[in-house]
Order: sequence, then C-alpha cells, then structure tokens
Amino acid sequence: MKRILTGDRPTGPLHLGHYVGSLQSRVKLQREYEQYIMIADMQALTDNFENPQKITDNVCEVIKDYISIGIDPSQSTIFIQSQIPEITELTLYYLNLVTLGRLERNPTVKNEMNQKGFGESIPMGFLCYPVNQAADITIFKAECVPVGEDQLPMIEQTNEIVRKFNRIYNTECLKESQALIGKGGRLVGIDGQSKASKSLGNAIFLSDDTKTVKEKIFQMYTDPNHIQISDPGKVEGHVVFAYLDLFHQDTEELNALKEHYRRGGLGDVMLKNMLFKDLEDFLNPVREKRKSLSNDILWDILRDGTTKARKVAIETIEEVRDVVGFTYKSLK
Ligand code: TRP
Repeated sequence: MKRILTGDRPTGPLHLGHYVGSLQSRVKLQREYEQYIMIADMQALTDNFENPQKITDNVCEVIKDYISIGIDPSQSTIFIQSQIPEITELTLYYLNLVTLGRLERNPTVKNEMNQKGFGESIPMGFLCYPVNQAADITIFKAECVPVGEDQLPMIEQTNEIVRKFNRIYNTECLKESQALIGKGGRLVGIDGQSKASKSLGNAIFLSDDTKTVKEKIFQMYTDPNHIQISDPGKVEGHVVFAYLDLFHQDTEELNALKEHYRRGGLGDVMLKNMLFKDLEDFLNPVREKRKSLSNDILWDILRDGTTKARKVAIETIEEVRDVVGFTYKSLK
C-alpha cells in the first residue's frame, strides 16, 4: 500500500468545513492507503508561541473529532508532531538548502503574514514552517499528501528540497511527493463568507450540541431580497442551499425545492428545518461515538500511533545522517 501523510494544526475543534474539505476523504483513503495523520503542534506553535496551552488543550479535541467522524486507528496512524524529535533534526538539515528569498516568496506564507500583521517583525519559526512541513512529509516518505489548494506551495517547496538534497549529497534516499487535492472543496461560513472557519466565528463544529446547531442554522445567510414567501428567491449564495447540497441525500427533491424557491412560494424556515434534520442525522452518530471515547482510550491511540510513526522517522533520519556523514561510527 502507498503511504500518505496529512495533518492539522491543533488550534481548535474541527468543524463541518474540515469534514467537507478533508476528513471525509481521509475516512475513504484509510482503506486504500497506509495513512499517517499528524497533529502538528510544533507548526501550530509558530503562530501561537505565547499561548502553548491553547495547542495542548486542543490535541485531545482534534483526535476526539477524528475518531468520532470515522477515522479508524487500526487503519490510520495518528501521532503528535513534537514527540518525533527526528522531524526537528531533519528540519535543520533542510534549512541549509532554502534561502530567505525563497521562503518569502511562498504564497501561502505571504498571505498568512499579511493576515497576522507581523510587519517587519517576522518570527523565523513562522517563516520557516514550510521547511518543517517538508521534513514532516519526507521523513515518512509519503508518496501522496491529501491537502487543500492552499497547501500546494508547501508540496512544491518540499519537492525542491528533496531534489536539492539528493543532488548535493548524491543520494536517492529522499522521495518526492504528490499533492492529492480533495474533491470536497471548501464550505461557506454560515454568514455567507467564502470559508467556514473558527477564527471568523461562522462554523458549525462537529462537537456542537443540538441547540447550537439549530441556532446556527437559523442565523444562516439566505437571499436578502426574498422578503415575502411569495417572492422569487435566489439559490446561488444561499447558505442553506449550499449546505443542503452537501448534506441532503435526495438530490431530486432538492432540485425541485430550488426550482420552487426560484419561482417563489417557498419559505426559508422550511428549508432551515430540513437542513436541521439532515445535520442532526449526520451529527447524532458522531455524538454517540464521541460519548464513548474516554481520555484513556484517546491517549492510548496517540501513544501507539506516535510509537509507530517514530520508528519510521528514525529509519529515515539514520539514512540522512549516513548520507551526510554524521554517523561517527568510531564514537560507538
Ligand atoms: N499546514 C497544514 C495546515 O495548516 C498542517 C500540516 C502540518 C500538514 N504538517 C503537514 C499537512 C504535513 C500535510 C502534511 O493545515
């Protein structure tokens, strides 16, 4: 089986946007691939270094979300990045192969830097996180990396490092990897903003209770010009329809409702109640599973996963040390 690696920064609980964009495909991929899932606490620290507790608190939340959504620890290896020091060591080898100019040109990092308003005071850890991510990917010799579009520059930079390393040290020990862009796409926020996100406060979490889900659905952005039920309405940009597209099973019924809404005579409340039922049907089994997970179970999964992942990482770092010549056999 081919190996794949994905990861998340543990900065908050996961939401429906994560489900649509990546979790859903991971549940499928774990049957076809040897899947490694990294909880990237070290990477999360690069823009949260003043608040590490936010990260450590969320490690447990994230794995709880993984397991309750259907990621199966007997098929996927889930582990904590910081507990694999070999990744950090590999990062240091790689930093020699990357220039400041190249890092500053990474479009994803550029975007994030603007959002965070670092100005001239860019923390080096943050600027270099793509190099750390290159180490994440290559230490596991992952052939494919399932990610969203925004991560493409990371894979590109990873492969540049691989080629440079192999050329300079005259080896083939590192492998290039391929991005596997998910078909799920991105989920709009309940406010109609292009992306559901925790920081924008417009996401429905996998761990939200019934009451919260209902409140969020009733806040959803609809068609502002659809005032009377009899008014013709617009389906495009209507958040309830966007969610129904993903969570309503009966496509024919949904198409008929869209036609009806366009003609006029269909109210938003009816649509919202329908979505509420669909989301409850989706979330109820997730909640059941979540209730059955004790902290002990979760830490056992993380312990096993981290032990297994570390074995692979050690194999690669030993090859790397050997290739560079830092083995010093006479010391042993
Ligand atoms: N950068 C990814 C994100 O922000 C998280 C991540 C860390 C990752 N290491 C990775 C993704 C390795 C894929 C492979 O979501």
